[in-house]
Amino acid sequence: MAPNPSTPIAVGDPARRAAAGPAASGSTGIARTLTRRSALAGAAALAAGLALPGRGTARTHAGIPFGGAVQAEHFDSDPSYRQAFLDHCDLVMPMNELKFSLLRPNRESWNFEPADRLVDFAIANGRLCRGTTHVWYGATPDWITRLESEREIAAALGEHVERVSDRYRGRVTDWDVCNEVIAHDPASEGPLRDTFWLRRLGPRHIPDAFALAARADPSATLTLNDYDLEFRGSRYDLRRATMLSIVRQMQDRNVPVHRVGLQAHLYLEKEIDVEGLARFGAELKALGVGLVVTELDLIDWQIEGGPAEQDAAAERSVSAFLDGLLDAGRPAAVVAWGITDRYSWISDVMPREDGKPERPLPLDRDYRPKPWYETLRRRLATA
Ligand code: G3I
Repeated sequence: MAPNPSTPIAVGDPARRAAAGPAASGSTGIARTLTRRSALAGAAALAAGLALPGRGTARTHAGIPFGGAVQAEHFDSDPSYRQAFLDHCDLVMPMNELKFSLLRPNRESWNFEPADRLVDFAIANGRLCRGTTHVWYGATPDWITRLESEREIAAALGEHVERVSDRYRGRVTDWDVCNEVIAHDPASEGPLRDTFWLRRLGPRHIPDAFALAARADPSATLTLNDYDLEFRGSRYDLRRATMLSIVRQMQDRNVPVHRVGLQAHLYLEKEIDVEGLARFGAELKALGVGLVVTELDLIDWQIEGGPAEQDAAAERSVSAFLDGLLDAGRPAAVVAWGITDRYSWISDVMPREDGKPERPLPLDRDYRPKPWYETLRRRLATA
């Protein structure tokens, strides 16, 4: 039976936790971190106004910051790629290098070097930087999954959040604390995604991770990031309702959550729910929670024709997305998941049947701006 969207998701519900198995019950190191002190620190940071620090100091453009996610391997090998971030971005963030499994592939060793280089590049060039992600099922290192007790897993997560937050304090000022915790289809599989973290620590791993992050760096902006929050249809309605429910429950527990991240992987064959997105932004705003667009790109695998048709569909989708997004206020930033069509996950995961190249990103393979990107920049500049 489909859950009623107004039914609480029970973030941290002991019954759900017990149902997750014996290892998920009992008191944890993470649970003990949910102190009044950590909640107050987060509240104080929120009250202090968590606009992305650095705004206005080294911005290359007025208006809402535009950013791009950078990958270390192309950064090293392609000077034009590196330059494109300087030419186009107010914010530069590592795409993969701050993920848990890359930072700490083994229990014994940490690998900060690639992330350090990219964060340093952003900061040295006066750009903003944001981080992704402490908790994501897609980047959980194997060694954690082999830990036996809930206590050890919670302690490892706590150590990770603390060490990483501390290292990048003041430079990575906005963190995707948890990524993709909502089930793909909340009606049939959810409401929360079935992950290692949910099975072993229960739903409360979400507020616990936020409380840990708030305690480790009280000045950081803390974001709950997810995908499929912008389209029309009941699955998307339910995903938005689930996100709102999680945010409300965290607030009820005095756990700080400052922003919701819209990944915005825009499937061009799907219709943007302009009103639904605007309503979602307004409901979050009423809760004191802002929006940030974290992984914008365009998936044109179902669009027939060539570059002209692909770009026309992109223009329609981006314009509708911006209509909904900007209706409720100003997102903290709009970040593209890459910068040039030369390098995108979409061509690997969703190649076009006709063999033609995808056109997912702001710049084409020769670093020429797309029309939709010019529209986007114009609207961000004047919003
Ligand atoms: O860097 C190594 C390279 O040295 C090696 O030769 C090559 C062989 O496969 O792998 C390279 O690493 C790959 C890395 O991307 C390079 O950029 C990893 O195998 C591959 O798993 C990794 O994929 C990333 C994926 O997340 C998993 O972390 C994609 O780039 C990245 O676009 C994707 O991003 C996700 C977001 O985090 C969450 N939202 C969805 C989005 C798309 O799946």
